Amino acid sequence: MKSNAPIGVLDSGVGGLSVLKVLHQMLPNENFIYVGDTARTPYGSRSEAEIRQFVEEIISWLEHQGVKQVVIACNTLTMLGIDSLKKEHPFELIGMSKGEQLLLAASKKKKIGVFATQFTISTEAHKKAILAADASAEVYPMACPKFVPLIEGEQFGNPAVAEAVAEYAAPLKEAGIDALILSCTHYPFIKDVVEAEFGAGVTVIDPAEATALLSKASLEKEGLLSDEKAGSVTICCTADLERVKRLAARMLPTEACSFKEISLRD
Ligand code: DGL
Repeated sequence: MKSNAPIGVLDSGVGGLSVLKVLHQMLPNENFIYVGDTARTPYGSRSEAEIRQFVEEIISWLEHQGVKQVVIACNTLTMLGIDSLKKEHPFELIGMSKGEQLLLAASKKKKIGVFATQFTISTEAHKKAILAADASAEVYPMACPKFVPLIEGEQFGNPAVAEAVAEYAAPLKEAGIDALILSCTHYPFIKDVVEAEFGAGVTVIDPAEATALLSKASLEKEGLLSDEKAGSVTICCTADLERVKRLAARMLPTEACSFKEISLRD
């Protein structure tokens, strides 16, 4: 495995760009290949068998690009179980951090909210991780199926976004949470609306940085950190290249990125 090989980053759509942003800032010497399966997003309301098939197709495609590590920049896919996705791939897979330590550090009242897709919420993975770290915590999970279509559809100025945020926030505000995790990588695109809805008494956590630290630690351990002066960022998608370019510009300095529409069967 060569240390200057690229790092693969994947998601069902544009959400993982919020993780790519942090990875690129933390590891500027690395080459990144991002894949967003924009032809088939959202994944979060699909069956486990279907999601599993899709992610295996993306990982195989990235393997053909010669990646040295794959970051699963998608909570829904991470919840399938990183070990079960590993197969015989010659590289490490890094999943999204569940952020339980960050949440417990941020929450004085130990009343914690989780915003995520239906699939992620159905696994109860965040609730279990938080309770394993502190059994006295109270966890309030909330599936937010309206968010991903609004974000993929670039509906940022649409009142429907604030309305959906208010709808999902209401029971968590009622419960009196003081920390909330955005456990879907799409949601940082509307973090400002979520923060405005909850107000200053609730700390809103994006687990992207904790995830990027896991990626970095694994590269260090394997002796695979790049020694290039400046890395490259290639953003690939399976549909709607122009839309992906506009959404990427909300997260990354896109003048330094290259873009490609791909077929996962290539
Ligand atoms: N961005 C994804 C996540 O982190 C998945 C969104 C979806 O496709 O439903 O869960």
